[in-house]
This record gives sequence, C-alpha cells and structure tokens, in this order.
Amino acid sequence: KKGGFRFYMEKEIYEQFEVLKENTLGRNTKEGIKFEEVDKKFFEGINNIIISACGTSYHAGLVGKYLIERDAKIRVNVEVASELRYREPLLSQDTLFIVISQSGETADTLETLKMAKKAGLKTLALCNVDNSSIVREADKTILLRAGIEKGVASTKAFATQVMTLWMLSNYLANKNEYYAINEAIEVTKVDTSLHEKIKRLSKRYTKGHGFFYIGRDIFFPLALEGALKLKEISYIHAEGYPAGEMKHGPIALADPDLYVVALLSKNILFDKTKSNIEELVARDATVLTISSEYIEMTDDFIRINETNHPMVEFFEMMVITQLLAMEVAIRMGNDVDMPRNLAKSVTVE
Ligand code: M6R
Repeated sequence: KKGGFRFYMEKEIYEQFEVLKENTLGRNTKEGIKFEEVDKKFFEGINNIIISACGTSYHAGLVGKYLIERDAKIRVNVEVASELRYREPLLSQDTLFIVISQSGETADTLETLKMAKKAGLKTLALCNVDNSSIVREADKTILLRAGIEKGVASTKAFATQVMTLWMLSNYLANKNEYYAINEAIEVTKVDTSLHEKIKRLSKRYTKGHGFFYIGRDIFFPLALEGALKLKEISYIHAEGYPAGEMKHGPIALADPDLYVVALLSKNILFDKTKSNIEELVARDATVLTISSEYIEMTDDFIRINETNHPMVEFFEMMVITQLLAMEVAIRMGNDVDMPRNLAKSVTVE
C-alpha cells in the first residue's frame, strides 16, 4: 500500500507533484484562474478576510496573507482557531471568513466557522475531505484534491492549501501567473539524488540542542512549517523564526550545537536574510542554507533551481524541509507516520 516507500509520509511527499496537478486542473488556465465552486459575485462587498485554522493549515493561511495582501490589496488576518474561538473578535459583515482544514473535522476550526456564520459573515472552506463537518457548515468550499493523507505529519495537504491560496490570490487580484504556477508544480518532483544528499546530511543533525528555521516574508511561514514538521516526528525542539527577529533574543542560543536551517530566497530580501545568516555563523551556530545562490560561509548548502518567482522557490524549499524532517526522524528510529501523542485529526478541544 505504501507503493515501495518506507512510510506513507514519504509516499505523500513524492506524490505532491501529481497532487498539485490535480489541485490546479481546470483552475489554473491560460486565461486566468477559474473556480467552479465560487464566482466573482460571492466576493462582492468583501473588504477584509479572516483566515482561521490550526497547525499546518494555519501556516498555509499565513502564506495566504502575504500573497493576498500584496496582490489583491485586501486586508487579511490569520487566526489560530483555538484562540479566536474564545476571545471576542470584532467580526464585521464585510469580512470573508475562510477556514482551512485537511480533515474538515478539527473541532476548534469548526467552532470558529459556526461563530462566523452566526455573526452573518460569508464563509469559505478550503478543505480536503468532501462532506466533512466543515464542508457541510461552510457557504462555499474549494476542495483541495490532495487525495487521502495518511501520515499524521501533513505534507501534500499543505502543498495544496498553499497552492489554492495562491490561486485565490490571483483570482481576487485578477492576476495571471499561469506559467509560474506550473513551474512551482514542476519543482515539487522529488529528485532522488537530492533525496540521497538529504539522507546523508541528516546524520549531522540529530544531536544538537535544538533547531531554528529562519526566513523572511513567505519563507517565514515556511520556516514555521519546517520546524513543526521536524518537531512532530523527530521530537527534537525546533522553532520557526522571522530571520530579522533572531537578534532580539534567540541568537543568544547560538553555539555549534544549535542547528539553523536558513531559507534564503534570491527574490525576496536576499541581502537582509544573508546578513542574518552571517550573524549566526559569526556566533558559531551550525547552519544549513537552502538557496539558489551559493553562499560559502555555512556548514551545509542545498541548492535549489534558479527562478525569478519566490513561490517557485517556496515549493522547492518546502519539499526539502519535508524530506529533511523525515530523514532526521527515521535516523532516530521513529515511526514517522504515527508520531507519539498525536492524532491525525483533532476532534476534541
Ligand atoms: O485537519 P486539519 O488541517 O484541520 O488539521 C490541523 C492540524 O491538526 C494539523 O495540520 C497538524 O498540525 C498536523 N499534524 C501537522 O503536520
């Protein structure tokens, strides 16, 4: 059933290329984005967006904020559902309420959706499971089409969540990035020699006192997601951090046993991020840089393809961080499909 792969997680990482093709089929067209599920009328009168989600789905939402605000110029707030639910948020009627969920059954996310509906907001679900509680509750749903995800650590669902938000952002902005979207799908095809390299590299990254994943802009939520992936299956402490925030405290932790995964985009704030990496190197942290631009100073380097689009870099880096987390965890002898203390869908609060 695992199709020759050691774990479902590995299979699902490898599947992302096919799954993203499915996710964008009939939606990403040369004439622009088309969604059968919604029409432009649904978005009329919308001045704000709130995105509510948990875990990995929340990280996807954060990427959506950067994209939608930059391109569509609509204000977006991204909320952790378990927090949103118990505070008294100001919900205005010109707000579109988006929930993101792989399972469609996450209790906190579902409750926020009910809350938004009660306040009279339009609601939209980005969800992988048709007929789930969230899909039944929402006014409209865009299905993620990721297929069944078995690994507790979400991989392909995350890929489709980010892709759907990217398409939504194009849709709202009347922007056409047909070719960039296809390029981003292309780079998720796993290169087996790269996978071998990551397997070898993972040896170095099992003993330290913790990991920081750093990035700026859309690479900050990817840093959060990379760190979550690592901690949930390897049980090693990991944090995602905005690269520019390291000097406001965490850099005090830097020593050779602090591991840093630096997501260095060529297209967004390259020099600024590079100087944040230099600061960590100067304090002797062990740094792995992922970039298309070779930088000599760090201990390890993984090269991605040269591209002019940050989202293409994003998707290639995403696969690398998933493989890295998986290889570190496998090396430590863990069952990456069934990490301790976790359930695939969290239907209790
Ligand atoms: O099914 P959902 O997307 O609503 O689940 C949300 C989180 O529980 C989920 O993303 C969790 O963080 C994953 N285990 C992360 O890999």
